[in-house]
Amino acid sequence: MTLRAVIAGSGSALPKRRVSNEQLAETVDTSDEWIVERTGIKFRHIADDNETTASLGTEAARSALAAAGIDAGEIDLIVLATSTPNQTFPASATIIQTNLGIGDCTAFDVQAVCSGFLYALSVADNMLRGGAAKTALVIGSETFSRILDWEDRGTCVLFGDGAGAVVLKAEEGDSGVLASKLHADGRHNQLLYVDGGPSTTGTVGKLRMRGREVFRHAVVNLVAVMNEALEAAGLTSDDVDWVIPHQANRRILDATARKLGLAEDKVIITVDEHANTSAASIPLALDTAVRDGRIKRGDLLVLEAMGGGFTWGASVVRY
Ligand SMILES: CC(C)(COP(=O)(O)OP(=O)(O)OC[C@H]1O[C@@H](n2cnc3c(N)ncnc32)[C@H](O)[C@@H]1OP(=O)(O)O)[C@@H](O)C(=O)NCCC(=O)NCCS
Repeated sequence: MTLRAVIAGSGSALPKRRVSNEQLAETVDTSDEWIVERTGIKFRHIADDNETTASLGTEAARSALAAAGIDAGEIDLIVLATSTPNQTFPASATIIQTNLGIGDCTAFDVQAVCSGFLYALSVADNMLRGGAAKTALVIGSETFSRILDWEDRGTCVLFGDGAGAVVLKAEEGDSGVLASKLHADGRHNQLLYVDGGPSTTGTVGKLRMRGREVFRHAVVNLVAVMNEALEAAGLTSDDVDWVIPHQANRRILDATARKLGLAEDKVIITVDEHANTSAASIPLALDTAVRDGRIKRGDLLVLEAMGGGFTWGASVVRY
């Protein structure tokens, strides 16, 4: 038998305020037609002042613990994927630890922008299989609304806030994370970045993106890494029940599925409701499809993402 990191439960959380394209068009020079046609986005949730990356992450983690039927006291590892932490330090993972009343454990943040959840999942998977922990919370939580330039219509309409989480348990068997492949290529830093930071400007900064160039790289990289991860698991796209992509743009999701020869109805899509929530989007989509009954125990899932850096990756999971 092989020791694997099994998804014991999932959860998610969204800010209360839901903003439609029409509402956005009241203050931004844009339209519902433009946003839907280019991106598939219809709504996004935007955090109020009292909703933070740590508070949303805590809510998602609570819901994942409840779904898994696991007491917070059993958690010995917390990995939070985020690019919008509450503070530069301490890691927001430690704020979530305290909020959940979890005692001594390992807790830290991982930052790989929109690929962050896959990086966090892979780190936790390796720690569980290596024996460094037994029961982990892997969380993606973001408040990108705080780093958007609301004067830049080319970016501010694309993003939203939210959080998703999974509880991973080290268990012997055939289920769990079967393979992960992660990549980075820093030569593309300037295509998608934030123009501030503690060691440079001393400010938080705002998100900047050259959307067309990002789009061009996305489909090629995502198709390649999904095939790579499937091959590492000894599987092919014919074996896949569900693709759970990072939700950046409907056109990227459709083009990627087409190139892999996957039917559209095998792709979980939440970008219409959540927009791009960066590291939160994969666990949010996963939790949505688990709760609405589409994803069932035994299904083969492929999780995939690409983001700033560039970073990109894919994980193959037997749910
Ligand atoms: C951002 C994106 C939707 C823009 O679509 P596009 O077809 O490339 O559009 P462009 O940026 O070339 O802009 C086309 C026109 O629309 C305009 N435009 C840009 N944003 C707009 C908005 N929100 N509303 C209305 N018009 C807008 C531009 O000003 C431009 O007008 P012009 O032709 O008069 O100059 C698209 O490039 C994209 O999805 N890229 C990938 C982004 C992504 O997924 N990033 C996250 C990865 S994690």
